[in-house]
Amino acid sequence: MTTSAPDPASVFKKQAAEHAVTLVRDGMVVGLGTGSTAAFVVAALGRRIRDENLHISAIPTSDVTEQQALSEGIPLTTFGQHTVLDIAIDGADEIETSTLNLVKGRGGALLREKIVASAAKQLVIVADTSKYMDHLGESCPLPVEIVPFGWELTISHLARLGAQVSVRKNRDGSFYVTDEKNLIADCVFGPISDPDALSRNIYAIVGVIEHGLFLHMAERAIIAGPEGLSVATPGTSVPQHLACSLPPATGKESALSVPKQLLVIMGVSGSGKTTIALGLQNELGWPYQEGDHLHPSHNVEKMAAGTPLTDEDRWPWLERCREWMENCATRHSGAILTCSALKRIYRDQLRASGLNPVFVYLYSTQDALSQRMEKRKGHYMPATLLPSQLQTLEPPQQDELSIAIDAAASPSQIIATVIHKLRTL
Ligand code: A5P
Repeated sequence: MTTSAPDPASVFKKQAAEHAVTLVRDGMVVGLGTGSTAAFVVAALGRRIRDENLHISAIPTSDVTEQQALSEGIPLTTFGQHTVLDIAIDGADEIETSTLNLVKGRGGALLREKIVASAAKQLVIVADTSKYMDHLGESCPLPVEIVPFGWELTISHLARLGAQVSVRKNRDGSFYVTDEKNLIADCVFGPISDPDALSRNIYAIVGVIEHGLFLHMAERAIIAGPEGLSVATPGTSVPQHLACSLPPATGKESALSVPKQLLVIMGVSGSGKTTIALGLQNELGWPYQEGDHLHPSHNVEKMAAGTPLTDEDRWPWLERCREWMENCATRHSGAILTCSALKRIYRDQLRASGLNPVFVYLYSTQDALSQRMEKRKGHYMPATLLPSQLQTLEPPQQDELSIAIDAAASPSQIIATVIHKLRTL
């Protein structure tokens, strides 16, 4: 008898799913998605219930997921008991990298999936890297759930929006029927340039119940691929690799009750800003931006050549950082930005236009910082720039909203301390 190796996509789906499940805490109400990736989530949750005596309840998004959840011993609940879910974890067919807008519904469960996602405090998407797209609609049709009555008329209206439409069928040629006893119209639009407009136009068609565009809903996507695990948030054009695996917070330090705020993780190069920001993002689920990625290219070239940046060099960069936070504030989202923010005037620039971020200041000694920088690989900033950074550094003053933490503590200690302090600020 021969056993075949699991296909790589399944391995990645499982990795992403298992990482996402670490976000689930005791007492949570959890939305369970549908599809092959979501099935790994359900299996991993079942394991945590058995191994850790985790107490949760869940609402599944399809009959298939319900059966799997029951077989895993996951207690189920209903919207009659809970109108708000703490978290929903689901797969996706396409993920637009820059926005985390999604196409879902290839598995036919889009209606229940959207109801569950819309009731969840946070929607976490799990997928392998093949789901990343520059534009939605590039790789698959957009599923639209329609009522059976008058389906011919409904699909003719969908076709007028510019799609090639076919009603989904089973292998035997009969119509595929959803759990809610409706039909699915698969609509090939090609790359969708304005998903919001398309969403409005589809909703305006009588006979349409729901479509598979999930817009502005996902708070983060956990993606696995050959390069490892990464996490993306809306507005973060470059997914951040989960370089370190941080222990999840304990139930007591559960972070969902932390009021949403803007956080700037600051300090000189080598103080561990990225590690702490990724860990905080893992706990809080807020969008994260690596400030280094916002530097204009001439700044990067200068630093790589070992030349310290001047104030003039830093203004456009700080402006980009501030704009990113402003964008998050407009969406009433928390936000985590790494930015050295060395001088008071730089922090004033980040506070411009009424923003009042909390500066998490990671302090350390020159020796400890040099050691870390020497070990660091793949970063353009050479250790020789450290003395000039330390000279420039003006730690936050008493009148600034800030949390100062010794960078020598372990990442999990620092993260737990920050979360604790954010609750009491
Ligand atoms: C189910 O209706 C879909 O929305 C799924 O979430 C989607 O098809 C992803 O499925 P896989 O995880 O199997 O790729």
